[in-house]
Amino acid sequence: MNERGGTILVTGGCGFIGTHLCHALVNAGQRVRVLDNLSSGKASGIPDSAELIVGDVADANAVAEAMSDADGIVHLAAIASVERCNTDWVTSHRTNLTGTLTVMEAARDAAERALPIVWASSAAIYGAARTLPIAERTSPAPMSPYGADKLGGELHGRAAAEIFGVSNTALRFFNVYGPGQDPYSPYSGVISIFAEKLAKGDGVTINGDGQQTRDFVYVGDVVRALIASLDRLLRRRRLEQDATFDAINVCTGRAVTVAMLAETLRDLTGSAGQIDYGPPRDGDIRDSVGDAARMQRLLSIRAETRLEEGLRALVEAGQDVAAQTG
Ligand code: NAD
Ligand code: UD1
Repeated sequence: MNERGGTILVTGGCGFIGTHLCHALVNAGQRVRVLDNLSSGKASGIPDSAELIVGDVADANAVAEAMSDADGIVHLAAIASVERCNTDWVTSHRTNLTGTLTVMEAARDAAERALPIVWASSAAIYGAARTLPIAERTSPAPMSPYGADKLGGELHGRAAAEIFGVSNTALRFFNVYGPGQDPYSPYSGVISIFAEKLAKGDGVTINGDGQQTRDFVYVGDVVRALIASLDRLLRRRRLEQDATFDAINVCTGRAVTVAMLAETLRDLTGSAGQIDYGPPRDGDIRDSVGDAARMQRLLSIRAETRLEEGLRALVEAGQDVAAQTG
């Protein structure tokens, strides 16, 4: 059942994942308001009917204004690059933890019964977990300021539910990919880098032996997880159930080697680009694959897009852009 009646506020709605979410919500007939400071996102990406407030997620007044007459919140605004957070430690902390708290406090105060929040945590909270697949009960051990702030958000998220009655769900995204991820940023993920280079006929370099694994989850599946989580919290609110905090992996449960990824992308692009092997990346995590059981149990969904299907959508979207611009 669709639980969404009024307006949904999406922070960070102009970013990679946010843009996909806003389109999905609007296509489902939903009113959408976006709060984004446009630091990495683009205003042109969101649907025409979405209302945009340009503002900072750590600014309590801007957040309160953005929440007026909202029914629920999806909080995605963040400095999403781990490396940028290493460089801008305190600045990124302000967005990534203070921003999350600001959203939680405003949600507490926005209505008589606090507004529910679904928000983006990250697999980065696990660090280099030793037991695979990584289930949510794994002790968190973030290895970066970015991961530490996401974990801090989760600790406050539990307090927000317990003390302030703010229901919130932290979705621990694994490596998200799909059309719209900037391949030119120095912080780009391996899929957007490889897809862009191979499509141009350039070679790619695998760091190390290529046998390291990741759990690559398609952005369309991430959007379904966000919407299912939101509907779950809105339903609980309508039924006047107690406030709840949950942390849920958003992953496929499938491990893909970087070497396999490069081969698949080369086949899909029909590229003559060469696949080279370089030295391993310092501090690279060897294996990361999530356990998707809780997502299936609580949200009744699976990240069902197969890697080849998701990569094909990414490559085709890139070809469309190239045809329009070239
Ligand atoms: P993105 O950088 O494309 O989007 C983030 C958006 O937040 C941008 O539009 C940016 O302008 C906005 N923003 C940044 N700081 C802000 C501030 N202070 N106030 C208001 N808006 C601000 O990143 P994304 O890949 O779409 O990630 C969305 C969320 O998912 C983030 O919270 C990120 O940490 C999380 N996440 C992403 C991945 C992934 O693989 N992409 C993995 C794990 C978690
Ligand atoms: C992600 C973050 C990273 C963070 C880590 C820990 C991104 C883009 N990266 O890294 O900053 O430290 O989570 O949570 O969000 N690779 C190549 N060749 C390339 C690029 C990458 O072989 O040109 C390899 C990497 O060495 C790695 C794998 O591809 O083994 C995936 O890399 P990446 O996409 O950066 O993601 P994470 O390593 O998961």
